[in-house]
Amino acid sequence: MATPQNKLAFDGGWDYDPAPESTDHIKLQKRYELFIGGEFVAPGKGRYFDSINPANEKKLARVADADEADVDRAVQAARKAYKGVWSRLPAKERGKYIFRIARIMQERAREFAAIESLDGGKPIRESRDVDVPLAAAHFFYYAGWADKLEYAFPGRRARPLGVAGQVIPWNFPLLMAAWKIAPALACGNTVVLKPAETTPLTALKLAEVIADAGLPPGVVNIVTGAGKTGAALVTHPDIDKVAFTGSTNVGRIIQRALAGTGKRYTLELGGKAANVIFEDAAIDQAVEGIVNGIFFNQGHVCCAGSRLLVQESVADEVIEKLKSRMETLIVGDPMDKNTDIGAINSAMQLEKIESYLKIGADEGGEMHQSSARLPSKGYWCAPTIFTNVAQSNRVVQEEIFGPVLAIQTFRTFDEALTKANNTPYGLSGGVWTDKGAKIFKMTQGLRAGVIWANTFNKFDPTSPFGGYKESGVGREGGLHGLDAYVRLGAE
Ligand code: NAI
Ligand code: MG
Repeated sequence: MATPQNKLAFDGGWDYDPAPESTDHIKLQKRYELFIGGEFVAPGKGRYFDSINPANEKKLARVADADEADVDRAVQAARKAYKGVWSRLPAKERGKYIFRIARIMQERAREFAAIESLDGGKPIRESRDVDVPLAAAHFFYYAGWADKLEYAFPGRRARPLGVAGQVIPWNFPLLMAAWKIAPALACGNTVVLKPAETTPLTALKLAEVIADAGLPPGVVNIVTGAGKTGAALVTHPDIDKVAFTGSTNVGRIIQRALAGTGKRYTLELGGKAANVIFEDAAIDQAVEGIVNGIFFNQGHVCCAGSRLLVQESVADEVIEKLKSRMETLIVGDPMDKNTDIGAINSAMQLEKIESYLKIGADEGGEMHQSSARLPSKGYWCAPTIFTNVAQSNRVVQEEIFGPVLAIQTFRTFDEALTKANNTPYGLSGGVWTDKGAKIFKMTQGLRAGVIWANTFNKFDPTSPFGGYKESGVGREGGLHGLDAYVRLGAE
Protein backbone atom coordinates (compact mmCIF):
# COMPACT_ATOMS: atom_id res chain seq x y z
CA MET A 1 0.00 0.00 0.00
CA ALA A 2 2.19 2.85 1.20
CA THR A 3 5.55 3.11 -0.48
CA PRO A 4 8.66 4.96 0.63
CA GLN A 5 9.63 8.34 -0.78
CA ASN A 6 6.47 8.94 -2.78
CA LYS A 7 7.40 6.22 -5.22
CA LEU A 8 5.04 6.19 -8.20
CA ALA A 9 2.46 3.54 -7.43
CA PHE A 10 1.44 0.99 -10.04
CA ASP A 11 -1.89 2.70 -10.68
CA GLY A 12 -0.10 5.80 -11.86
CA GLY A 13 -0.96 7.82 -8.73
CA TRP A 14 1.18 8.81 -5.80
CA ASP A 15 0.95 6.95 -2.51
CA TYR A 16 1.29 8.57 0.86
CA ASP A 17 4.07 7.50 3.19
CA PRO A 18 2.69 5.46 6.07
CA ALA A 19 1.77 7.55 9.10
CA PRO A 20 0.93 5.00 11.77
CA GLU A 21 -0.37 6.10 15.15
CA SER A 22 1.95 4.77 17.81
CA THR A 23 0.63 2.17 20.21
CA ASP A 24 3.41 2.54 22.81
CA HIS A 25 1.20 4.66 25.03
CA ILE A 26 -1.68 2.26 25.32
CA LYS A 27 -2.14 -0.20 28.10
CA LEU A 28 -4.15 -3.27 27.30
CA GLN A 29 -4.56 -6.07 29.77
CA LYS A 30 -4.40 -9.67 28.65
CA ARG A 31 -7.68 -10.35 30.38
CA TYR A 32 -10.60 -8.14 31.36
CA GLU A 33 -13.00 -8.89 34.17
CA LEU A 34 -16.49 -7.55 34.87
CA PHE A 35 -16.82 -4.14 36.51
CA ILE A 36 -19.33 -4.63 39.31
CA GLY A 37 -19.74 -2.63 42.50
CA GLY A 38 -16.61 -0.60 41.76
CA GLU A 39 -14.37 -3.64 41.41
CA PHE A 40 -13.08 -5.80 38.61
CA VAL A 41 -14.45 -9.27 39.34
CA ALA A 42 -14.21 -12.61 37.55
CA PRO A 43 -17.35 -14.00 35.94
CA GLY A 44 -19.00 -16.67 38.10
CA LYS A 45 -18.56 -19.46 35.59
CA GLY A 46 -15.03 -18.37 34.67
CA ARG A 47 -15.83 -18.03 30.96
CA TYR A 48 -14.08 -15.59 28.67
CA PHE A 49 -14.19 -14.71 24.97
CA ASP A 50 -11.68 -13.04 22.63
CA SER A 51 -11.90 -9.54 21.27
CA ILE A 52 -9.92 -9.35 18.06
CA ASN A 53 -8.58 -6.63 15.83
CA PRO A 54 -10.69 -6.88 12.66
CA ALA A 55 -7.88 -5.34 10.58
CA ASN A 56 -5.56 -8.31 11.11
CA GLU A 57 -7.70 -10.91 12.94
CA LYS A 58 -5.25 -10.94 15.87
CA LYS A 59 -6.49 -11.41 19.41
CA LEU A 60 -6.29 -8.24 21.52
CA ALA A 61 -7.57 -9.50 24.87
CA ARG A 62 -9.70 -12.07 26.67
CA VAL A 63 -12.92 -10.61 27.99
CA ALA A 64 -15.27 -11.93 30.67
CA ASP A 65 -18.50 -13.53 29.48
CA ALA A 66 -21.22 -12.61 32.00
CA ASP A 67 -24.10 -15.00 32.57
CA GLU A 68 -27.45 -14.35 34.23
CA ALA A 69 -26.04 -14.59 37.74
CA ASP A 70 -23.30 -12.07 36.93
CA VAL A 71 -25.86 -9.70 35.44
CA ASP A 72 -27.95 -10.12 38.57
CA ARG A 73 -24.96 -9.22 40.74
CA ALA A 74 -24.42 -6.08 38.66
CA VAL A 75 -28.08 -5.06 38.90
CA GLN A 76 -28.00 -5.58 42.67
CA ALA A 77 -24.87 -3.45 42.95
CA ALA A 78 -26.56 -0.73 40.90
CA ARG A 79 -29.70 -0.91 43.07
CA LYS A 80 -27.68 -0.67 46.26
CA ALA A 81 -25.75 2.32 44.94
CA TYR A 82 -28.98 3.97 43.80
CA LYS A 83 -30.72 3.62 47.14
CA GLY A 84 -27.75 4.16 49.38
CA VAL A 85 -25.78 6.91 47.68
CA TRP A 86 -26.47 8.22 44.23
CA SER A 87 -30.14 9.21 44.48
CA ARG A 88 -29.41 10.99 47.78
CA LEU A 89 -26.36 12.89 46.67
CA PRO A 90 -26.85 16.63 46.14
CA ALA A 91 -27.18 17.18 42.39
CA LYS A 92 -24.11 19.37 42.17
CA GLU A 93 -22.02 16.57 43.68
CA ARG A 94 -23.25 14.19 40.97
CA GLY A 95 -22.24 16.82 38.44
CA LYS A 96 -18.71 16.98 39.86
CA TYR A 97 -18.22 13.25 39.36
CA ILE A 98 -19.44 13.43 35.78
CA PHE A 99 -17.16 16.40 35.04
CA ARG A 100 -14.30 14.36 36.46
CA ILE A 101 -15.04 11.46 34.10
CA ALA A 102 -15.06 13.91 31.17
CA ARG A 103 -11.72 15.42 32.16
CA ILE A 104 -9.95 12.09 32.69
CA MET A 105 -11.31 10.89 29.36
CA GLN A 106 -9.81 13.95 27.68
CA GLU A 107 -6.47 13.33 29.38
CA ARG A 108 -6.46 9.76 28.07
CA ALA A 109 -7.93 10.65 24.68
CA ARG A 110 -5.02 9.24 22.67
CA GLU A 111 -5.22 5.93 24.44
CA PHE A 112 -8.99 5.72 23.98
CA ALA A 113 -8.68 6.56 20.29
CA ALA A 114 -6.01 3.95 19.62
CA ILE A 115 -7.92 1.22 21.45
CA GLU A 116 -11.14 2.12 19.65
CA SER A 117 -9.43 1.74 16.29
CA LEU A 118 -7.64 -1.48 17.24
CA ASP A 119 -10.74 -3.15 18.62
CA GLY A 120 -13.33 -1.98 16.11
CA GLY A 121 -11.45 -1.26 12.86
CA LYS A 122 -12.37 2.40 12.42
CA PRO A 123 -9.74 4.84 11.11
CA ILE A 124 -7.68 6.46 13.84
CA ARG A 125 -8.51 9.87 12.35
CA GLU A 126 -12.17 9.25 13.16
CA SER A 127 -11.73 7.81 16.62
CA ARG A 128 -9.29 10.63 17.43
CA ASP A 129 -11.32 13.52 15.93
CA VAL A 130 -14.89 12.29 16.28
CA ASP A 131 -15.58 9.43 18.69
CA VAL A 132 -13.42 10.33 21.67
CA PRO A 133 -13.90 14.13 21.70
CA LEU A 134 -17.64 13.69 21.26
CA ALA A 135 -17.79 11.12 24.04
CA ALA A 136 -16.02 13.53 26.41
CA ALA A 137 -18.30 16.34 25.21
CA HIS A 138 -21.35 14.29 26.17
CA PHE A 139 -20.04 13.86 29.71
CA PHE A 140 -19.28 17.58 29.95
CA TYR A 141 -22.68 18.52 28.58
CA TYR A 142 -24.71 16.29 30.89
CA ALA A 143 -22.50 17.09 33.89
CA GLY A 144 -23.72 20.65 33.42
CA TRP A 145 -27.36 19.60 33.60
CA ALA A 146 -27.05 17.58 36.82
CA ASP A 147 -27.89 20.50 39.14
CA LYS A 148 -30.09 22.37 36.66
CA LEU A 149 -32.90 19.90 36.10
CA GLU A 150 -35.43 22.37 37.48
CA TYR A 151 -34.60 24.60 34.50
CA ALA A 152 -34.84 21.69 32.08
CA PHE A 153 -38.35 20.92 33.35
CA PRO A 154 -39.75 24.20 34.66
CA GLY A 155 -42.59 23.88 37.11
CA ARG A 156 -42.17 20.15 37.50
CA ARG A 157 -40.01 18.01 39.71
CA ALA A 158 -37.70 15.58 37.92
CA ARG A 159 -36.99 12.38 39.84
CA PRO A 160 -34.64 9.62 38.74
CA LEU A 161 -36.08 6.32 37.51
CA GLY A 162 -33.73 3.99 39.37
CA VAL A 163 -31.48 1.43 37.65
CA ALA A 164 -30.97 1.66 33.90
CA GLY A 165 -29.99 -1.39 31.83
CA GLN A 166 -28.15 -0.24 28.73
CA VAL A 167 -27.08 -2.30 25.72
CA ILE A 168 -24.92 -0.76 23.01
CA PRO A 169 -23.56 -1.74 19.57
CA TRP A 170 -20.15 -1.94 17.98
CA ASN A 171 -20.18 0.96 15.55
CA PHE A 172 -19.43 3.77 18.06
CA PRO A 173 -18.50 1.81 21.16
CA LEU A 174 -17.20 4.58 23.44
CA LEU A 175 -19.52 7.25 22.10
CA MET A 176 -22.58 5.05 22.64
CA ALA A 177 -21.42 4.31 26.18
CA ALA A 178 -21.19 8.08 26.77
CA TRP A 179 -24.62 8.73 25.21
CA LYS A 180 -26.11 6.19 27.57
CA ILE A 181 -24.22 6.72 30.81
CA ALA A 182 -23.91 10.53 30.97
CA PRO A 183 -27.62 11.51 30.98
CA ALA A 184 -28.53 8.57 33.23
CA LEU A 185 -26.03 9.67 35.90
CA ALA A 186 -26.88 13.35 35.55
CA CYS A 187 -30.52 12.58 36.39
CA GLY A 188 -29.56 10.48 39.43
CA ASN A 189 -29.91 6.96 38.04
CA THR A 190 -27.37 4.18 38.34
CA VAL A 191 -26.50 1.94 35.39
CA VAL A 192 -25.50 -1.48 34.17
CA LEU A 193 -24.03 -1.22 30.68
CA LYS A 194 -23.33 -4.04 28.25
CA PRO A 195 -20.99 -3.22 25.38
CA ALA A 196 -21.01 -5.18 22.11
CA GLU A 197 -19.03 -8.41 22.05
CA THR A 198 -16.73 -7.35 19.20
CA THR A 199 -15.81 -3.99 20.76
CA PRO A 200 -15.78 -4.15 24.57
CA LEU A 201 -12.34 -2.64 25.22
CA THR A 202 -13.02 1.09 25.34
CA ALA A 203 -16.01 0.52 27.65
CA LEU A 204 -13.64 -1.41 29.93
CA LYS A 205 -11.16 1.48 29.73
CA LEU A 206 -14.05 3.71 30.69
CA ALA A 207 -14.61 1.45 33.70
CA GLU A 208 -11.01 2.22 34.72
CA VAL A 209 -11.69 5.95 34.34
CA ILE A 210 -14.86 5.64 36.40
CA ALA A 211 -12.92 3.85 39.13
CA ASP A 212 -10.16 6.49 38.99
CA ALA A 213 -12.76 9.26 39.15
CA GLY A 214 -13.79 7.81 42.51
CA LEU A 215 -17.45 7.26 41.67
CA PRO A 216 -19.24 5.53 44.52
CA PRO A 217 -19.12 1.74 43.93
CA GLY A 218 -22.03 0.37 41.90
CA VAL A 219 -23.10 3.65 40.29
CA VAL A 220 -21.76 2.37 36.96
CA ASN A 221 -21.37 -1.36 36.30
CA ILE A 222 -20.08 -2.81 33.05
CA VAL A 223 -20.84 -6.39 32.10
CA THR A 224 -19.43 -7.91 28.94
CA GLY A 225 -20.82 -10.75 26.87
CA ALA A 226 -22.89 -11.35 23.75
CA GLY A 227 -26.64 -11.35 23.03
CA LYS A 228 -27.47 -13.67 25.93
CA THR A 229 -25.88 -11.29 28.41
CA GLY A 230 -27.79 -8.41 26.83
CA ALA A 231 -31.05 -10.34 27.06
CA ALA A 232 -30.41 -11.16 30.73
CA LEU A 233 -29.92 -7.46 31.40
CA VAL A 234 -32.92 -6.03 29.55
CA THR A 235 -35.30 -8.67 30.98
CA HIS A 236 -33.99 -8.41 34.55
CA PRO A 237 -36.99 -7.72 36.82
CA ASP A 238 -35.18 -5.10 38.90
CA ILE A 239 -34.33 -2.79 35.99
CA ASP A 240 -36.43 0.38 35.76
CA LYS A 241 -35.38 1.54 32.35
CA VAL A 242 -33.89 -0.02 29.23
CA ALA A 243 -31.83 1.88 26.70
CA PHE A 244 -30.84 -0.03 23.59
CA THR A 245 -29.02 0.82 20.38
CA GLY A 246 -28.65 -1.88 17.75
CA SER A 247 -30.54 -3.84 15.13
CA THR A 248 -34.26 -3.43 14.54
CA ASN A 249 -34.68 -7.19 15.07
CA VAL A 250 -33.28 -7.15 18.58
CA GLY A 251 -35.16 -3.90 19.25
CA ARG A 252 -38.40 -5.73 18.45
CA ILE A 253 -37.50 -8.63 20.76
CA ILE A 254 -36.81 -6.16 23.58
CA GLN A 255 -40.01 -4.21 22.96
CA ARG A 256 -42.03 -7.44 23.09
CA ALA A 257 -40.31 -8.54 26.30
CA LEU A 258 -41.04 -5.19 27.96
CA ALA A 259 -44.64 -4.85 26.81
CA GLY A 260 -46.94 -4.56 29.82
CA THR A 261 -44.14 -4.32 32.38
CA GLY A 262 -44.51 -0.55 32.77
CA LYS A 263 -40.76 -0.19 32.35
CA ARG A 264 -39.49 2.79 30.43
CA TYR A 265 -37.43 2.20 27.32
CA THR A 266 -35.68 3.95 24.45
CA LEU A 267 -34.71 2.08 21.31
CA GLU A 268 -32.33 3.47 18.73
CA LEU A 269 -32.44 1.15 15.75
CA GLY A 270 -31.62 0.99 12.06
CA GLY A 271 -31.87 3.43 9.22
CA LYS A 272 -31.87 3.84 5.45
CA ALA A 273 -31.42 7.55 5.06
CA ALA A 274 -31.85 9.41 1.80
CA ASN A 275 -29.36 12.07 0.86
CA VAL A 276 -31.23 14.30 -1.61
CA ILE A 277 -29.19 16.36 -4.07
CA PHE A 278 -31.02 19.06 -6.03
CA GLU A 279 -29.64 20.51 -9.26
CA ASP A 280 -28.99 23.85 -7.61
CA ALA A 281 -26.71 22.35 -4.94
CA ALA A 282 -22.99 23.09 -4.72
CA ILE A 283 -22.04 19.86 -6.46
CA ASP A 284 -18.46 19.43 -5.21
CA GLN A 285 -19.54 19.93 -1.60
CA ALA A 286 -22.45 17.57 -2.13
CA VAL A 287 -20.09 14.87 -3.41
CA GLU A 288 -17.99 15.27 -0.26
CA GLY A 289 -21.20 15.03 1.74
CA ILE A 290 -22.19 11.81 -0.01
CA VAL A 291 -18.75 10.34 0.69
CA ASN A 292 -18.95 11.39 4.32
CA GLY A 293 -22.54 10.16 4.55
CA ILE A 294 -21.92 6.58 3.49
CA PHE A 295 -18.21 5.80 3.57
CA PHE A 296 -17.53 7.41 6.96
CA ASN A 297 -16.85 4.66 9.51
CA GLN A 298 -17.20 1.97 6.78
CA GLY A 299 -20.92 2.76 6.57
CA HIS A 300 -21.32 1.29 10.06
CA VAL A 301 -23.60 4.18 10.92
CA CYS A 302 -27.30 3.89 11.69
CA CYS A 303 -27.89 7.36 10.26
CA ALA A 304 -25.65 6.78 7.20
CA GLY A 305 -26.76 8.35 3.93
CA SER A 306 -27.11 4.94 2.33
CA ARG A 307 -29.51 6.10 -0.39
CA LEU A 308 -28.63 8.87 -2.80
CA LEU A 309 -31.48 10.66 -4.58
CA VAL A 310 -30.05 12.95 -7.22
CA GLN A 311 -31.93 15.23 -9.57
CA GLU A 312 -31.81 13.86 -13.10
CA SER A 313 -30.29 16.98 -14.67
CA VAL A 314 -27.12 16.67 -12.55
CA ALA A 315 -27.07 12.91 -12.02
CA ASP A 316 -24.35 12.13 -14.57
CA GLU A 317 -22.09 14.87 -13.22
CA VAL A 318 -22.60 13.82 -9.60
CA ILE A 319 -22.02 10.12 -10.29
CA GLU A 320 -18.91 10.87 -12.37
CA LYS A 321 -17.44 13.05 -9.64
CA LEU A 322 -18.38 10.53 -6.98
CA LYS A 323 -16.63 7.70 -8.83
CA SER A 324 -13.52 9.77 -9.23
CA ARG A 325 -13.56 10.75 -5.54
CA MET A 326 -14.02 7.09 -4.56
CA GLU A 327 -10.76 6.27 -6.35
CA THR A 328 -8.87 8.56 -4.00
CA LEU A 329 -10.26 7.02 -0.80
CA ILE A 330 -7.61 5.06 1.05
CA VAL A 331 -8.86 1.73 2.39
CA GLY A 332 -6.55 -0.01 4.84
CA ASP A 333 -4.78 0.04 8.18
CA PRO A 334 -7.09 1.80 10.65
CA MET A 335 -4.07 2.92 12.66
CA ASP A 336 -2.66 4.89 9.72
CA LYS A 337 -3.59 8.57 9.86
CA ASN A 338 -4.05 8.67 6.07
CA THR A 339 -6.71 5.97 6.07
CA ASP A 340 -10.22 6.99 5.03
CA ILE A 341 -11.94 3.63 5.26
CA GLY A 342 -10.92 1.09 7.88
CA ALA A 343 -11.83 -2.54 8.47
CA ILE A 344 -15.33 -3.98 8.53
CA ASN A 345 -16.09 -4.68 12.18
CA SER A 346 -16.43 -8.46 12.05
CA ALA A 347 -16.44 -11.48 9.74
CA MET A 348 -20.20 -11.72 10.28
CA GLN A 349 -20.81 -8.12 9.20
CA LEU A 350 -18.58 -8.55 6.15
CA GLU A 351 -20.57 -11.64 5.19
CA LYS A 352 -23.78 -9.65 5.49
CA ILE A 353 -22.43 -6.80 3.34
CA GLU A 354 -21.16 -9.22 0.71
CA SER A 355 -24.51 -10.99 0.60
CA TYR A 356 -26.09 -7.61 -0.22
CA LEU A 357 -23.57 -6.98 -3.01
CA LYS A 358 -24.77 -10.22 -4.56
CA ILE A 359 -28.44 -9.41 -3.95
CA GLY A 360 -28.00 -5.98 -5.54
CA ALA A 361 -26.32 -7.43 -8.63
CA ASP A 362 -28.91 -10.23 -8.91
CA GLU A 363 -31.69 -7.65 -8.76
CA GLY A 364 -30.23 -6.00 -11.85
CA GLY A 365 -28.36 -3.18 -10.15
CA GLU A 366 -25.16 -1.94 -11.74
CA MET A 367 -22.37 -2.24 -9.19
CA HIS A 368 -19.25 -0.09 -9.19
CA GLN A 369 -16.43 -0.40 -6.66
CA SER A 370 -13.30 1.65 -6.24
CA SER A 371 -10.15 -0.12 -7.34
CA ALA A 372 -8.58 0.19 -3.86
CA ARG A 373 -6.30 -2.74 -3.08
CA LEU A 374 -7.53 -4.49 0.02
CA PRO A 375 -5.21 -6.01 2.63
CA SER A 376 -5.12 -9.81 2.56
CA LYS A 377 -5.75 -10.33 6.29
CA GLY A 378 -8.75 -8.88 8.07
CA TYR A 379 -12.23 -7.84 6.89
CA TRP A 380 -12.50 -5.29 4.11
CA CYS A 381 -14.96 -3.87 1.66
CA ALA A 382 -14.11 -1.32 -1.04
CA PRO A 383 -16.47 1.65 -1.35
CA THR A 384 -19.36 0.53 -3.54
CA ILE A 385 -22.22 2.16 -5.41
CA PHE A 386 -25.26 0.69 -7.13
CA THR A 387 -26.97 2.50 -9.98
CA ASN A 388 -29.95 1.31 -12.02
CA VAL A 389 -31.82 0.26 -8.91
CA ALA A 390 -35.56 0.56 -8.27
CA GLN A 391 -37.49 1.57 -5.19
CA SER A 392 -38.53 -2.06 -4.60
CA ASN A 393 -34.95 -3.43 -4.67
CA ARG A 394 -33.65 -4.83 -1.41
CA VAL A 395 -30.47 -2.76 -1.59
CA VAL A 396 -32.73 0.31 -1.63
CA GLN A 397 -35.02 -0.86 1.16
CA GLU A 398 -32.85 -2.74 3.65
CA GLU A 399 -30.10 -1.60 5.98
CA ILE A 400 -26.74 -2.96 4.78
CA PHE A 401 -24.54 -1.22 7.37
CA GLY A 402 -21.52 -1.13 5.10
CA PRO A 403 -19.89 1.23 2.57
CA VAL A 404 -22.58 0.57 -0.02
CA LEU A 405 -24.63 3.34 -1.63
CA ALA A 406 -27.81 2.86 -3.70
CA ILE A 407 -28.29 5.68 -6.22
CA GLN A 408 -31.61 6.74 -7.74
CA THR A 409 -32.66 9.80 -9.70
CA PHE A 410 -35.71 12.07 -9.50
CA ARG A 411 -37.20 14.88 -11.57
CA THR A 412 -39.42 16.88 -9.19
CA PHE A 413 -39.38 17.87 -5.54
CA ASP A 414 -42.43 15.75 -4.80
CA GLU A 415 -40.89 12.68 -6.42
CA ALA A 416 -37.76 13.15 -4.29
CA LEU A 417 -39.82 13.46 -1.11
CA THR A 418 -42.00 10.45 -1.90
CA LYS A 419 -38.98 8.28 -2.66
CA ALA A 420 -37.11 9.50 0.41
CA ASN A 421 -40.04 8.62 2.66
CA ASN A 422 -40.67 5.27 1.01
CA THR A 423 -38.80 3.27 3.65
CA PRO A 424 -39.71 1.45 6.84
CA TYR A 425 -37.08 3.56 8.61
CA GLY A 426 -36.98 7.20 9.62
CA LEU A 427 -33.77 8.03 11.42
CA SER A 428 -32.05 10.66 9.33
CA GLY A 429 -31.85 12.39 5.98
CA GLY A 430 -29.90 14.97 4.02
CA VAL A 431 -30.78 17.74 1.62
CA TRP A 432 -28.43 19.65 -0.65
CA THR A 433 -29.68 22.81 -2.35
CA ASP A 434 -28.93 26.49 -2.74
CA LYS A 435 -32.47 27.42 -1.70
CA GLY A 436 -33.44 27.86 1.95
CA ALA A 437 -37.12 27.42 1.07
CA LYS A 438 -36.43 23.97 -0.40
CA ILE A 439 -34.53 23.01 2.72
CA PHE A 440 -37.49 23.94 4.94
CA LYS A 441 -39.99 22.20 2.69
CA MET A 442 -37.88 19.05 2.66
CA THR A 443 -37.24 19.05 6.40
CA GLN A 444 -40.96 19.41 7.04
CA GLY A 445 -41.92 16.62 4.67
CA LEU A 446 -39.24 14.08 5.54
CA ARG A 447 -40.24 11.61 8.23
CA ALA A 448 -36.84 11.44 9.89
CA GLY A 449 -35.53 12.35 13.31
CA VAL A 450 -32.41 14.17 12.13
CA ILE A 451 -32.05 16.03 8.85
CA TRP A 452 -28.85 17.66 7.73
CA ALA A 453 -28.86 20.49 5.19
CA ASN A 454 -25.79 20.97 3.01
CA THR A 455 -23.80 18.75 5.36
CA PHE A 456 -24.07 15.22 6.73
CA ASN A 457 -23.22 13.14 9.78
CA LYS A 458 -22.61 16.02 12.13
CA PHE A 459 -23.19 15.41 15.82
CA ASP A 460 -23.35 17.54 18.90
CA PRO A 461 -24.30 16.69 22.49
CA THR A 462 -26.92 19.44 22.53
CA SER A 463 -28.92 18.01 19.59
CA PRO A 464 -31.49 15.30 20.15
CA PHE A 465 -31.10 12.14 18.08
CA GLY A 466 -33.61 9.38 17.38
CA GLY A 467 -36.01 8.00 14.85
CA TYR A 468 -39.50 7.49 13.50
CA LYS A 469 -41.13 4.21 12.47
CA GLU A 470 -38.79 1.20 12.60
CA SER A 471 -35.85 3.40 13.51
CA GLY A 472 -36.92 3.38 17.12
CA VAL A 473 -38.56 5.06 20.06
CA GLY A 474 -37.38 8.03 22.10
CA ARG A 475 -34.61 10.59 21.80
CA GLU A 476 -31.05 10.71 23.07
CA GLY A 477 -28.89 13.80 23.35
CA GLY A 478 -29.71 17.36 24.27
CA LEU A 479 -32.49 18.37 26.60
CA HIS A 480 -34.70 15.63 25.17
CA GLY A 481 -32.13 13.07 26.28
CA LEU A 482 -32.80 13.97 29.92
CA ASP A 483 -36.47 13.21 29.53
CA ALA A 484 -35.73 9.51 29.05
CA TYR A 485 -34.14 9.27 32.51
CA VAL A 486 -36.60 11.11 34.72
CA ARG A 487 -40.08 10.78 36.15
CA LEU A 488 -41.81 14.12 36.12
CA GLY A 489 -44.18 15.14 38.88
CA ALA A 490 -45.52 18.12 40.71
CA GLU A 491 -42.95 20.22 42.52
P1 NAI B 1 -27.42 -6.57 17.47
O1 NAI B 1 -28.65 -5.76 17.56
O2 NAI B 1 -27.52 -8.04 17.60
O3 NAI B 1 -26.35 -6.09 18.57
C1 NAI B 1 -26.41 -4.87 19.29
C2 NAI B 1 -26.21 -5.14 20.77
O4 NAI B 1 -27.31 -5.91 21.27
C3 NAI B 1 -24.97 -5.97 21.13
O5 NAI B 1 -24.43 -5.48 22.34
C4 NAI B 1 -25.52 -7.36 21.30
O6 NAI B 1 -24.74 -8.18 22.13
C5 NAI B 1 -26.86 -7.07 21.95
N1 NAI B 1 -27.89 -8.10 21.80
C6 NAI B 1 -28.02 -9.07 20.86
N2 NAI B 1 -29.13 -9.79 21.07
C7 NAI B 1 -29.74 -9.28 22.17
C8 NAI B 1 -30.95 -9.59 22.89
N3 NAI B 1 -31.76 -10.57 22.50
N4 NAI B 1 -31.27 -8.84 23.96
C9 NAI B 1 -30.48 -7.82 24.36
N5 NAI B 1 -29.33 -7.50 23.73
C10 NAI B 1 -28.97 -8.20 22.64
O7 NAI B 1 -26.72 -6.20 16.10
P2 NAI B 1 -25.61 -7.06 15.29
O8 NAI B 1 -26.04 -8.48 15.16
O9 NAI B 1 -24.30 -6.78 15.89
O10 NAI B 1 -25.72 -6.37 13.86
C11 NAI B 1 -26.72 -6.78 12.94
C12 NAI B 1 -27.25 -5.59 12.16
O11 NAI B 1 -27.87 -4.68 13.03
C13 NAI B 1 -26.19 -4.78 11.46
O12 NAI B 1 -25.85 -5.33 10.25
C14 NAI B 1 -26.89 -3.46 11.31
O13 NAI B 1 -27.74 -3.48 10.18
C15 NAI B 1 -27.74 -3.36 12.55
N6 NAI B 1 -27.09 -2.55 13.60
C16 NAI B 1 -27.57 -1.30 13.82
C17 NAI B 1 -26.94 -0.50 14.75
C18 NAI B 1 -27.41 0.88 15.00
O14 NAI B 1 -26.64 1.70 15.49
N7 NAI B 1 -28.65 1.19 14.77
C19 NAI B 1 -25.77 -0.93 15.49
C20 NAI B 1 -25.37 -2.30 15.24
C21 NAI B 1 -26.02 -3.03 14.31
MG1 MG C 1 -12.71 -6.35 18.60
